Amino acid sequence: MSKLVIKGGRRLIGAVKIAGSKNASVAVIPASLLASGESTIDNLPDITDVTTFAEIISDLGAEVSLNRDGRMVINPNGFSSWQAPYELVKRLRASYYLLGVLLAKFGRAEVALPGGCNIGLRPVDQHIKGFKALGAEARLEHGIVKIQADRLKGAPIYLDVVSVGATINIMLAATLAQGVTTIENAAKEPHVVSLANYLNSMGAKVQGAGTDVIRVKGVKSLRGSEHSVVPDDIEASTFMMSSVASAGDVTVTGVIPKHLDPIIAKLREAGAEIQENGDSLRVIGPERPMAVNIKTLPYPGFPTDCQQIFVALMARADGISVVQETIYDNRFGYANELIRMGASVKVDGRTAIVEGVPKLFGAPVRATDLRAGAAMIVAGLSAEGKTEVYGVEHILRGYEHVVDKYRSIGADIVEEKER
Ligand code: UD1
Repeated sequence: MSKLVIKGGRRLIGAVKIAGSKNASVAVIPASLLASGESTIDNLPDITDVTTFAEIISDLGAEVSLNRDGRMVINPNGFSSWQAPYELVKRLRASYYLLGVLLAKFGRAEVALPGGCNIGLRPVDQHIKGFKALGAEARLEHGIVKIQADRLKGAPIYLDVVSVGATINIMLAATLAQGVTTIENAAKEPHVVSLANYLNSMGAKVQGAGTDVIRVKGVKSLRGSEHSVVPDDIEASTFMMSSVASAGDVTVTGVIPKHLDPIIAKLREAGAEIQENGDSLRVIGPERPMAVNIKTLPYPGFPTDCQQIFVALMARADGISVVQETIYDNRFGYANELIRMGASVKVDGRTAIVEGVPKLFGAPVRATDLRAGAAMIVAGLSAEGKTEVYGVEHILRGYEHVVDKYRSIGADIVEEKER
């Protein structure tokens, strides 16, 4: 176990190369299992969610090699199990994508309900609704989702809530179904598009990804392919907000600026100067950010995964921010940690009122989940004195080389063994 020790107050200056997207990676890795041959995935981030998924599919019989440059070669030919037990999947919420993959490949799947971040209820009813519409029987027994179908048949599916996971899972299952599936009210996140592009390169027929109607025409088989994972919009957002929090001048490189539109808009409102140059964004922070309001929404709205980090930024803003969380029912648990640093945050249900204070003070705090961990780093960077962030394992799930990257732009941050 280790902790991050941050001495705040340094202006961050320099450039950071953004890694491949965590959320895209955890979809394209299991998608490779649908092929009848070897696939190569590039630009994978060096994070534990990726290594954990590699271990899971290797335990299920696939041949997997992952090199240090973020290239994974997956040969699914030895892969023959439709069962993914709790011991394997508990460390990774996205392991539920195995449901769609195993169902498409073997006509059955038994996958334990996964773990992941503790940010409120995260049901899978829309995934199940989709599988049932495709002709599968599904039940939950002793924490294991069991689904089975003689033959998956394409069908129209309307999602009651915009769900990234359900959109991706249904897309995965529908690729090898007989006939056409339409997913209405589909999620439009960049990683949904990234997965559709990958599936199409394998021979699938997926249209409309990135809009709210996705059409999948089932094919008989898929071949191995090559894919490069899209840049991580959440990692990029984290460094952009870090720049503003430290009154810094940080350029994030290797990004797709369009994916960052909601962050760019809100940081500009907060007083940042943002210059776009091809695949780079230079973010120059004001001495003190102005308070702005946000409401989390599915893409292209303000991402819930940036809500906690934005609150850490607003904690030191000039004025009062109203932050509405519309995606999760319990994503303000970290607010108590910010309060320990002197922030003034009042939470009422899914709304937080953040009254900006001129100064935060370093304190020992806990990363209660992945993005809360990033919020603690951002708060620590702008605080006076020493902040110790415990629960680093959450942060390492989604941020590669986080200490080195922050140090390279001037942060005083080290990882120390916890006593
Ligand atoms: C994905 C992201 C996660 C992000 C979230 C919302 C990955 C691996 N993770 O998670 O980082 O926070 O999108 O942008 O891509 N819901 C239901 N029933 C379902 C499915 C979802 O009610 O069957 C609800 C959830 O409780 C939540 C909302 O829909 O309130 C959105 O969840 P969803 O988009 O499915 O999140 P994930 O795919 O799990």
